[in-house]
Amino acid sequence: MSETKNAVLKYDGKEYQLPVKIGSEGEIGIVTKKLRPETGLITYDPGYGSTGSCSSAITFINGEKGILRYRGYPIEQLAENSSFVEVMYLLLYGELPKPQEMKDFEYNISRHTILHEDMKKFFEGFPPNAHPMTVLSTMVAAMAAYYPKTDYAEDRKNNIIRLLAKVPTIAAFSYKKSIGHPFIYPDNSLDYVSNFLKMMFAIPSEEYTVNPVVKKSLEKLLILHADHEQNASASTVRMVGSTEANLFHSISAGIHALSGPLHGAANQKVIEMLEKIQKDGGDYEKYMKMAKDKSSGFRLMGFGHRVYKNFDPRAVILKKSADDVLKALQVEDPLLDIAKNLEAIALEDDYFVQRKLYPNVDFYSGIIYRALGIPTNMFTVMFALGRLPGWVSQWKEINDDPEFRIHRPRQIYTGYNERQYVPLDQRS
Ligand SMILES: CC(C)(COP(=O)(O)OP(=O)(O)OC[C@H]1O[C@@H](n2cnc3c(N)ncnc32)[C@H](O)[C@@H]1OP(=O)(O)O)[C@@H](O)C(=O)NCCC(=O)NCCS
Repeated sequence: MSETKNAVLKYDGKEYQLPVKIGSEGEIGIVTKKLRPETGLITYDPGYGSTGSCSSAITFINGEKGILRYRGYPIEQLAENSSFVEVMYLLLYGELPKPQEMKDFEYNISRHTILHEDMKKFFEGFPPNAHPMTVLSTMVAAMAAYYPKTDYAEDRKNNIIRLLAKVPTIAAFSYKKSIGHPFIYPDNSLDYVSNFLKMMFAIPSEEYTVNPVVKKSLEKLLILHADHEQNASASTVRMVGSTEANLFHSISAGIHALSGPLHGAANQKVIEMLEKIQKDGGDYEKYMKMAKDKSSGFRLMGFGHRVYKNFDPRAVILKKSADDVLKALQVEDPLLDIAKNLEAIALEDDYFVQRKLYPNVDFYSGIIYRALGIPTNMFTVMFALGRLPGWVSQWKEINDDPEFRIHRPRQIYTGYNERQYVPLDQRS
């Protein structure tokens, strides 16, 4: 990375030199760190579409070309060849693990999967219909009470392992609680994804064997969700982390950010939308018209992306995966046909073409989760489980950053100018 060129800002008869930062893939950022002290001006970019909040070596996205790489490795190669745990290691430590490193990492995670027994009582306090995302974020925040030591690199390392190990347990327990089934304790002889499946789907009265198609498909889904640079939840994790808040609080904040329908909850919303269309006689053309009519308040969920303006490489992988998984599991899902029909018209439609709106990762992921037997209200939890190593890596990066500063944006104030207080009995 270099800062060789300058940009020039002319304002009010004066000229200012602003240094430029060039990333390893050639993106250029005008460095405005000293803009306010030197000029009194600030930048104004609601929604941060043109703002770089940090430099990061974790994930590279080129939205115009549909490129997504973790630590330089193309998402297509990782989805095809890697495991979720290997991708976790890659994101966290920057390199693919060597065989012994992989063994140690897997072993460490498997030693921390059990929750403190007292934490189990929290699940009893939630109403039965509590959304599993609410349960997940609460339980992750509560981990800070059980693992409060954050003083040394060793504490930090241990807490990262604890978090990665316990989130699948929390997620599966929240599901079991919602359906009134007994909790299934972790089985440390299983790999990460198989253990999660067992905790989700086993019951004490029956033997459970992991279906390899389900496992492979879930590995792929989790890998595809593992990081996505400075999206709303990762930026939230960094924002909270910048206050030196501990790991658990920072990640819990990220889970809250993910719960919104414009972010992680879009996968649940896609299925609800497809079900609605199906109940309405499958008239997808009617819904396409509604999506184009702003007064309808209806958006085509799973379409559009702030960064991808050509195609979302994750959606391409998942579209194929949806076909393969449904076939292998012999599941017929009419929602897949509705989804494909919607996509086909949208790709030809002027409204969508002009605005560069394409299916995103959430468009097909829900259909695969359904086929795997994962209930709709758990979809966003699955997204959180996948995104966990990304959030932790972003949190770790900000904590190791020599330019570390609390995040504190400015604003353009548009409210009242100074006015005088009026006592209550004198207000009309
Ligand atoms: C993802 C999303 C939040 C990106 O938002 P954004 O970058 O701020 O884009 P905007 O909301 O400014 O949208 C740009 C234009 O496309 C339209 N648009 C965007 N997504 C749309 C959708 N899913 N259906 C219909 N119109 C859409 C907007 O109305 C806007 O039209 P306009 O220029 O005429 O006003 C947005 O596309 C969306 O709401 N998608 C549905 C939710 C979703 O799938 N989220 C998961 C993201 S991984």
